[in-house]
Amino acid sequence: MNSKWNKVIYKLWAPIYDLFFAKGPFKRARESIYSSVRFAEGDRVLFVGVGTGADFMHIPVSELTVTAIDYSKDMLAKAKEKAGGQLIDFLEMDAQQLDFPNDSFDWVIGSLILSVVPDGEKALEEMVRVVKTEGHILIFDKFVPKEGSQNIFKKLIRPVVRLLGTDIGLSFEKIMGVSRNRVRIKEDSGILFNGMYRKIVLQKK
Ligand SMILES: C[S@@+](CC[C@H](N)C(=O)[O-])C[C@H]1O[C@@H](n2cnc3c(N)ncnc32)[C@H](O)[C@@H]1O
Repeated sequence: MNSKWNKVIYKLWAPIYDLFFAKGPFKRARESIYSSVRFAEGDRVLFVGVGTGADFMHIPVSELTVTAIDYSKDMLAKAKEKAGGQLIDFLEMDAQQLDFPNDSFDWVIGSLILSVVPDGEKALEEMVRVVKTEGHILIFDKFVPKEGSQNIFKKLIRPVVRLLGTDIGLSFEKIMGVSRNRVRIKEDSGILFNGMYRKIVLQKK
């Protein structure tokens, strides 16, 4: 993936994004993901690549201290609109270079972002860096299966899908890279489209 292209493509996505990714199966997947997430009152929560804020309706924003970053002004504008009067700190920032000190957040949430940034491994390292020890990283994203080979059709359409701003050929196990030693995997379950999309919960050691 390419950062400059992401800016262009997410400018185009911004007005219509929610029609695809905040409704129907994606809405149900998000509901299911958050139904088992237990935030504590006052938790500091960071959304990385918040997009239009499609996750906001599934969390108790008023009980939390929420920060949301994205690389695209246009997506952030949509998220601000969606937040209405809710207190959320919105910042334009690169997921691969988070401008926060180490150990800053109780929860770091990365929905559909590791498959979008140019370097998913680096973005995950940053998420691990800024989450507190014993804090959680919640990932909702699409990855290739852990075992077996990727479907040939997906291999063929991968370059076209990348032009739309996302990659359908990434392995989470590879993205884990050096982060592997710094986290425990608390949950890794298929959540949508036969397990293509997964809910992954990591806890920092
Ligand atoms: C597929 S959308 C996901 C949005 C949202 N998290 C969701 O679940 O619907 C990917 C988002 O990542 C943002 N993005 C792309 N590259 C980024 C980067 N390097 N740093 C931060 N955000 C980035 C895009 O602007 C877009 O809003």
